[in-house]
Amino acid sequence: MATFYVTTPIYYVNAAPHLGHAYTTIAADVMARHHRQRGDRVFFLTGTDEHGEPVADAAHAQGVEPQELADRNAGRFKALAPQIEATNDFFIRTTDPQHEARVQEVLTRVRENGHVYEGIYEGWYCPRCADFKADNEIEEGNRCPIHHIELTREQEENYFFRLSSFQEPLERLYAEQEDFVAPRTRFNEALSFIRSGLRDVPLTRHKLTWGVPVPWDPEHVFYVWFDALLNYYTALSYAGEEDLTAIFWPPDYHIIGKDILRFHAVYWPALLMAAGLELPRHVFVHGYLLMDGEKMSKSLGNVLDPFAVIERFGADALRFYVLREVPFGQDGSVSTASFELRYETELANELGNLASRTIGMVQRYRAGKVASVAPDAQLAADFDGLPERVAAHVDAAELTLALEEIWQRVRRLNRYVEEQAPWKLAKESGREDDLDRVLATLVEGLRAVTVLLWPYLPASAERLLAALGSSDVSFAVAALGSASIEHVSPLPSLFPKEPAAGSA
Ligand code: MSP
Repeated sequence: MATFYVTTPIYYVNAAPHLGHAYTTIAADVMARHHRQRGDRVFFLTGTDEHGEPVADAAHAQGVEPQELADRNAGRFKALAPQIEATNDFFIRTTDPQHEARVQEVLTRVRENGHVYEGIYEGWYCPRCADFKADNEIEEGNRCPIHHIELTREQEENYFFRLSSFQEPLERLYAEQEDFVAPRTRFNEALSFIRSGLRDVPLTRHKLTWGVPVPWDPEHVFYVWFDALLNYYTALSYAGEEDLTAIFWPPDYHIIGKDILRFHAVYWPALLMAAGLELPRHVFVHGYLLMDGEKMSKSLGNVLDPFAVIERFGADALRFYVLREVPFGQDGSVSTASFELRYETELANELGNLASRTIGMVQRYRAGKVASVAPDAQLAADFDGLPERVAAHVDAAELTLALEEIWQRVRRLNRYVEEQAPWKLAKESGREDDLDRVLATLVEGLRAVTVLLWPYLPASAERLLAALGSSDVSFAVAALGSASIEHVSPLPSLFPKEPAAGSA
């Protein structure tokens, strides 16, 4: 059996979740669901990053201990997953004792392998990023390019990770594995960072106490990024009843935002090499969801509240919107206005109407019974190879392109209704067979697109398939003509135009 292992970044618990976090989790969930449809054994991991300076600072500012803040916000992230219909197999918290023990074990091995030494670090540091900034990254006024806050000059006695010695192995990795990082612009960005010369990086922090203690020098804790990156590896060892590492390692996809490219595309593979572990197959880097032209983030205060959207329109609509509106892999703007427009024109008018018209006509003209006839050859031709094309896009994490392939068929079916005008056929004598064929084609086309839409719109797809009496969502029945519906049942509106709170 094929396996598929997909991860999201683990989210900082210094603030509550917002749409930016939901976005990555939704995307990873679409991939996980798609692979489950294909019969793969899937492991989908998400969780929270709880150590380090940003969390410690946020806790102290609120007058609580870091663990208390971590518990509170980890709970919110954990609750977000089912609300956006994410089917993660595990939720890791970096304060899990099993994670901490495994981090100590792996990083001790990295040291034993000769990649760690003691030294002094001095540089410009952003406490929000928990990261030192290179001179060419610093914004005017000595500010962080992401958070626009003033950087602090830090000097610290640290243990260092010998990143510089991985320059050549990393260049080789990028030469041999052209799809290690995608999209291409991100691949090029990471590669040019590598080529510009890698400096060793601090592996531990001396001044901090909120972190995983360094076993060989308990006055230090591990630098939060190394602790965090290792979550992808440690989780497998304790997420299940048995150790899943041998089954799922290495990951097929790390899905990340572009803000954390360097950590995943440079530090992470180097660290894995240093530990003697296999590298992930792909890192896919999506862009920012922007509001008013700025990255949406809690600290900037420009946040579209995913919970409010879900309450009013349902999680499906949110999942659909973020993957449809913003080409996955690029930056794009989101707004309440464009959300409502897509909801109305695409979900309600195109898919919702197609479903209600199709089911309505079968009920009206055939008392709910669907004739057992082959779908119209002309329409079937427009569905040829569709599941394969969708799968190829999802394999490349091209989630917006995959959705567009499917949506073109939703539109094709709507055109088919107009072309064939079943309401006219119903009035003409001698056209009974034609009407049977048109209705059977519509029902089967609707069923096939719905199976393909399931990873994006799981709840609506399940309701729709239930009304078609065919609950199978496996990829084996994703092609037009691969199943046959006998009977349809009434379906309340899938995407009501004016959804009442909580009803969508
Ligand atoms: N804790 C680190 C990641 C460690 S992974 C080993 C971190 N956490 S975070 O809470 O800041 O989350 C960052 C991730 O959230 C981004 O990489 C991205 O996946 C998602 N996003 C947060 N804001 C976003 C937008 N405005 N737009 C798109 N994605 C965003 O960094």
